[in-house]
Amino acid sequence: MKTIQITGGTRLRGRVKISGAKNATLAILSAALLANDKIILENVPDISDVRVMIDIIREMGGEISWLDEECLSIKPPSKISNLPSYREVKKLRASNLLLGPLLAKFGIAQIALPGGCNIGIRPMDLHFKGLAGLGAELVIERGCVKGQAKSLRGARIYLDFPSVGATENIMMAASLAKGSTVIENVAKEPEIVDLANFLNSLGAKVRGAGTDVIKIEGVDSLDQGGRYAVIPDRIEAGTFMVAAAATRGDVLLEGVISQHIEPLIAKLREANVEVTEEGDTLRVKVNQELRPIDIKTMPYPGFPTDMQSQMMALLTIVPGTSVLVENIFENRFQIVDELKRMGANIKVEGRMAVIEGVSSLHGTQVKASDLRAGAALIIAALIAEGVTEINNAFYIARGYQKIEQKLSSLGANIRVS
Ligand code: EPZ
Repeated sequence: MKTIQITGGTRLRGRVKISGAKNATLAILSAALLANDKIILENVPDISDVRVMIDIIREMGGEISWLDEECLSIKPPSKISNLPSYREVKKLRASNLLLGPLLAKFGIAQIALPGGCNIGIRPMDLHFKGLAGLGAELVIERGCVKGQAKSLRGARIYLDFPSVGATENIMMAASLAKGSTVIENVAKEPEIVDLANFLNSLGAKVRGAGTDVIKIEGVDSLDQGGRYAVIPDRIEAGTFMVAAAATRGDVLLEGVISQHIEPLIAKLREANVEVTEEGDTLRVKVNQELRPIDIKTMPYPGFPTDMQSQMMALLTIVPGTSVLVENIFENRFQIVDELKRMGANIKVEGRMAVIEGVSSLHGTQVKASDLRAGAALIIAALIAEGVTEINNAFYIARGYQKIEQKLSSLGANIRVS
């Protein structure tokens, strides 16, 4: 998918099934390397980031095949035939999650430093602090991080920032360390809890995921494989909710865990969007004038940074002044210039974006700078007058399964090339 063309003006109506969570799947695929037996993983989103991670694991000797559109059969490698190639690892920042499992299971790891991406420099100091705390020796040479560990020993580790990836890497490594590990000030995202549940399904002993402190009793090996279903993608769900609100539509989302999107539901309700929760469905409707709101992105359970761009697109046409503060990444306002080319009125001061609602956006050529900015441009295009062409649309395919089919089933006028 290189380009998406959307003719704006239709209200989204109908039902959409939410796929499995990209960020839970990527961590769980890494964790599968720790297991000694076959795993069946269900509710896996068929997106390009997942396909890259599958290729990396195959490269290392793992056997992975799709049993159906959303189910994987995984036979972890008993030994590592090759360390992940630079070519593959460079495609996927989340390949940094291979560090913990490779060190814990095989005592050796080498991955290309994933490097920065468009939303920030993405350091790994907290990953290294935690893994070194467990006894791994890590060196950075020529853009690669090389690690070795004769054996890992449990430790007490404090995270200066509740980093999602660092929490995941340390949790996975500690699962096979000798003795107990306590990790403090951890990330509490639902994907952390899903990873802990997956590890425990393999026989690990991880307690406290979802709270500020995770305790892990290391075990000698993870011999039971088994079957596991990934949680729904709260960011995909949030993206469709915001698209429904922006087009003043009426959309029923199926297969969501509303508790995982509480912060977004609260903010949409503040903006006068009607959100009704019923079991594993959420209905989003707009019956009255939307109100401007203020948002600060924070670690979970605060407002998710991965929904910031999408909310910005919605707020461009909400009468009044809205303020967005991005507290997680230092460069996540690149979409602003593209929205201004569509007629939005946005001023950026450091980590703050001030949005003055305009009566309408107009379609034009725009380009995605990252996955969530691309999703936000889709929302802007749905509400703009005329045709919008979104270039670099491959970013969107990284994290949204069949987004063009899902949107056109809701009535969007969308073409992909
Ligand atoms: C995960 O990235 C997600 N990716 C991101 O989603 C998400 O935006 C982010 O968590 C925050 O929720 C995956 O799960 C694959 P962090 P991650 O470590 O783990 C700083 C998407 O669109 N930090 O929590 O890389 C870092 O600079 C993607 O799906 C350090 O300082 O995020 C950032 O400011 C984008 N040192 C903050 O923490 C470290 O060692 C949050 O990063 C690590 C991170």
